[in-house]
Order: sequence, then C-alpha cells, then structure tokens
Amino acid sequence: MKNSTVNDCRIVQLTKIHNRAGNITIIENNKDIPFDVKRIYYLYDIPSNESRGGHAHKELFQLVIGTSGSFNINLNDGTNEKSVFLNRPDFGLLIVPGIWRDLSDFSSGSVCLVFASEIYSENDYIRDYDEFITFKK
Ligand code: TYD
Repeated sequence: MKNSTVNDCRIVQLTKIHNRAGNITIIENNKDIPFDVKRIYYLYDIPSNESRGGHAHKELFQLVIGTSGSFNINLNDGTNEKSVFLNRPDFGLLIVPGIWRDLSDFSSGSVCLVFASEIYSENDYIRDYDEFITFKK
C-alpha cells in the first residue's frame, strides 16, 4: 500500500445499542470493520504530554477507538496530513497500511483500543521517517 493516502483512512461509526442501563457497542469481523481481526491491544496509563505512534506499517490495517477519554491522531501519507480527534467509544478510525501516525494529547485516564489485521511483527514497522518517505516514492 505504497500509494495509500490519508483519505483512505476514515471514521467508522460502530453499532451502538442504547438503553437506560447504558450502551453496548459491537464489532464483528468483516462486518463492522473491513478486515479479519488477528490482534487486539490497548494503550492506557499514558502520562500527559506523552505521544505514541511515530511509525507507519507496511501491511497492517487497524481500527483505533477512544473507548475512554480522548486523544488526537495525526495521519501523514508523505504528501498530505490529516488530524482526527477520537473521543467516542462508538466511533473508530480505520488506518490503512502506508500511513505515518502520531498519537498525542491524551486526556487523563484515556484508553486507546486497537483492532489489528495481523499479529505483531516488527518487520511490518517503518520507524524512521526518512525511510517512510522513501517507501512512499
Ligand atoms: P509500538 O507499536 O511502537 O507502540 P505505540 O505505537 O503505541 O507507541 O509498540 C511499543 C512496544 O510494544 C514495542 O517494543 C513493540 C511492543 N509491541 C508488541 O510486542 N506487540 C504488539 O502487539 C504491540 C502493538 C507492541
């Protein structure tokens, strides 16, 4: 996905079932998100003023959800940038492969839940920005 752009990344509105006792949101493979989920992880206890990300993936698709609190994700395809603020547990951000991302401005107690299309592989990461720009050319 060398040719992917920030416009290929999009907000996904998830199913929300509401009643007076609270809400439930459901995510099913290939129905609510356009890939098979092979891995789930979450970021939490993030100190204020810290940032995460600072890398791109070659093949990995991810759906990122702010299940608690809020944070900002800056997307960069080497040409254009797009900033997305996540603060609702029933909205996710689909990040396609080939996008540099920086996560910042975590609110206190925030939780960043990630559904990923592949198991962890360090080989899938591009952690050097110059290398990313070369990859996108
Ligand atoms: P990283 O993806 O760089 O974190 P972030 O993008 O949130 O800043 O991962 C941080 C560390 O955790 C890194 O050493 C790799 C390790 N890690 C795993 O071992 N398995 C995983 O599934 C993930 C997401 C990270």
